[in-house]
Amino acid sequence: CGRLPVWGEMSIFEHTVFSGMRPSGRLHLGNYLGALQNWVTLQEEYRCIYCAVDVHALTDIQGEATKEIRPNVQEMVLDWLAAGIDPEKSLIFVQSQVPEVMVLHSLLSMVTPLGWLLRVPSFKDKVRQLDATEETVSYGLVGYPVLMTSDIVLYKADTVPVGEDQLPHLELAREIVRRFNHLYGPTFPEPQAKLAEYPLIIGLDGKQKMSKSLDNHIELASDEEATRARVLTAFTDPERLRRTDPGRPLICNVYALHKLFNPDKLDDVYQQCTSAQIGCVEDKHLLADGINNALEVFRERRRELAERTGYVADVLRDGALRARVIARETLAEVRDRMGLSEIVL
Ligand code: TRP
Repeated sequence: CGRLPVWGEMSIFEHTVFSGMRPSGRLHLGNYLGALQNWVTLQEEYRCIYCAVDVHALTDIQGEATKEIRPNVQEMVLDWLAAGIDPEKSLIFVQSQVPEVMVLHSLLSMVTPLGWLLRVPSFKDKVRQLDATEETVSYGLVGYPVLMTSDIVLYKADTVPVGEDQLPHLELAREIVRRFNHLYGPTFPEPQAKLAEYPLIIGLDGKQKMSKSLDNHIELASDEEATRARVLTAFTDPERLRRTDPGRPLICNVYALHKLFNPDKLDDVYQQCTSAQIGCVEDKHLLADGINNALEVFRERRRELAERTGYVADVLRDGALRARVIARETLAEVRDRMGLSEIVL
């Protein structure tokens, strides 16, 4: 009765989304509101491919620290699934389990001028951050955007939902694609970035973007008590010193978070804070309630999924198998165009 349909072949959608996240472990509110929520929505309009980019993680960490990668993948993918990334709709897999991407990375590196890579602003930032120089920095870090391009084009994806920080990488991906297509004939679509409208989520320090490395975050998966304890550490209006001082919601990050998690209580909170009817502690308890309510379904689902032994591993295995079918096909085409011999099996 013929072969089984390959994933996506029967898709009713015209466009393919690809996006990746580095496996940083459990995700936080900022990750959810900034990216994950958008990934979930895109499933209704695109053939979606979501990848835990563990090889990219190796540009950041080395040695002992890499032991964290596998558990981090597991925790992150549990968050994806609990948030509503649906393995029946989307292709979900771990980057290194489709090793074809590393071969494509080698091949695309041949058409990528070094100057393009050295000019990427995030590369320069990273070198500074690592306290390295262009002499000591790893060859792999220089090639970060080439690997990212390989991720995308291996599946001929045309739409890439990313944050603004990734736009230079996407620009480079398009340049590499144009060059490849020019040299070897039309092969890949030029991938377009898809920026989502979302609020900038400031962390509990009230100053910087919410991030795990700054430890100013609220984990999606933590329990109600832990969330409340975290929220109670949040910075509020620094000039509201006494309980009887009126607060200034417009400069208070807790108020900014009320907008997202307590939209129906917003007017009351504003009025009670500016008239000093409630203090910052009460106000933070209200916020903790709002966050805990909003995450209740997510947390329940996550607990359920975590209890199914081997579930995440199965989803990822299935994803990798289906991804490899597409990957091998693209890679065979690229090898052929670039004059390489066929793989002997
Ligand atoms: N560089 C991206 C980030 O740090 C992660 C990533 C890797 C990615 N490969 C990708 C994003 C391909 C989109 C498409 O966020």
